Amino acid sequence: MQKSIVLPSTAETELQQFILKITTDATRKDLIQVLQAVQERYGYLQKESLRMIAINLGVSFSEVYGVATFYHQFRLQPPGMYVIQVCLGTGCHAKGNANNFEYLRLLLGLESEESTTKDRIFSLEAARCFGCCSLAPVIVISGSTGNYSRIYVHVNQKVLKKILAEHREKALQESEPKREMIVCPKK
Ligand code: FES
Repeated sequence: MQKSIVLPSTAETELQQFILKITTDATRKDLIQVLQAVQERYGYLQKESLRMIAINLGVSFSEVYGVATFYHQFRLQPPGMYVIQVCLGTGCHAKGNANNFEYLRLLLGLESEESTTKDRIFSLEAARCFGCCSLAPVIVISGSTGNYSRIYVHVNQKVLKKILAEHREKALQESEPKREMIVCPKK
């Protein structure tokens, strides 16, 4: 497919401008990096971004969609406030993280196709090795805005319950309106 750059007009969105910027010198071989850059900035890959990436890289939409759905690392839906990544690499799998994953699904009340809780506080994802297998089993919890990340090692079901409760509490506090004291000027 021939590459045809989509130029944003002044009315175009920030998303379009960002995609234009990162695809200007990119080609088909850069597809995964481009998808990673978009997800890192926006938290997920909306359909519109896949469409623009396809046009700007000169590949078909179905190819971009195929890559985005093939790799676990990509999300096509907006994530919850906290994204829980459960390592299912060999080391963590051997230490029971598949059971931990199912236990988390249960605690979060996720239906079979769901990965984000109805209150949008948590998303649950399977992940590949984080590179600290000797500390298995491992999970990572990150803020969807990218400003928070914690790695938990040697996790077990008791600890997972506690971790969820802590983050739920944190999320509820953060969504509360901030209290401010307004000092009125004296007359
Ligand atoms: S297998 Fe889980 S951190 Fe390596």
